[in-house]
Amino acid sequence: METPSPAADAADAPSRWVGTSWKMTKTRAEGVAWARSLVAAAERLGEGAWAGVQPFVVPPATAIADVAAALRAPGTSWVLVGAQDAHWEDAGAWTGELSVPQLADAGAQLVELGHSERREHFAETDERVALKVAAVLRHGLLPLVCVGETAQQRDAGRSVDVVLTQARAALDAAGDQRCVLAYEPVWAIGERGREARPEEVAPVVAALAGLVGDLGGSARRNPVLYGGSVTVEGATGVLEVPGVDGLFVGRTAWRAEGFVALLDLAAR
Ligand code: PGA
Repeated sequence: METPSPAADAADAPSRWVGTSWKMTKTRAEGVAWARSLVAAAERLGEGAWAGVQPFVVPPATAIADVAAALRAPGTSWVLVGAQDAHWEDAGAWTGELSVPQLADAGAQLVELGHSERREHFAETDERVALKVAAVLRHGLLPLVCVGETAQQRDAGRSVDVVLTQARAALDAAGDQRCVLAYEPVWAIGERGREARPEEVAPVVAALAGLVGDLGGSARRNPVLYGGSVTVEGATGVLEVPGVDGLFVGRTAWRAEGFVALLDLAAR
């Protein structure tokens, strides 16, 4: 299996995406153990395992190189490896930051941007996300941009508004290049979150798909994933929502068995 060119709008685009960010968890050894379990599961299933599904994993920056190396075992080069953020400049006096070329050098093919934890705790703005999308694409990596409303914004009936504003900033920066979107309602994410019900996901994803269409994109160029307390039990329901092209998962996929279970469901 060949590694697809992540940023290209390839004709053989996957029909579904399933990925996980490990956030600030896992040592290098733990990351490699996870990767080896995934490789072993893929080998058990053989050629064509999870056909049509694009798996991706977003380790902490410290583990990108080791995880990428572990996943380049024969048969699994199709798992994309990503970074959790990147600076918009290529190099310079930006203490503590990592640039897209540096992340690519470590083995990253994809860069997650605009996660709500970064928007909330690290003052990430749509303007910065747009600059970062441009930087990621300039170097031929794939941007994955998270969008989502807070509980307060949802209660005020502003979900679609908020999410479309965030998505438009990213898509304008991406132009006609591929940019993956993940709808991640803030109230659904993490320990205190609750997995959104399909009927809660549907209207927002429909609005995102509408925006993608208005901007001349397509589900292939701008797939829309759902994320936020995804469970193996709830995944099928959300995958059946029209316009949902995959899953972006935290805790459930931090054990390789959970990730494999989600890949199995997505491939059905
Ligand atoms: P969670 O994280 O699945 O642990 O809620 C999701 C995310 O933040 O992308």
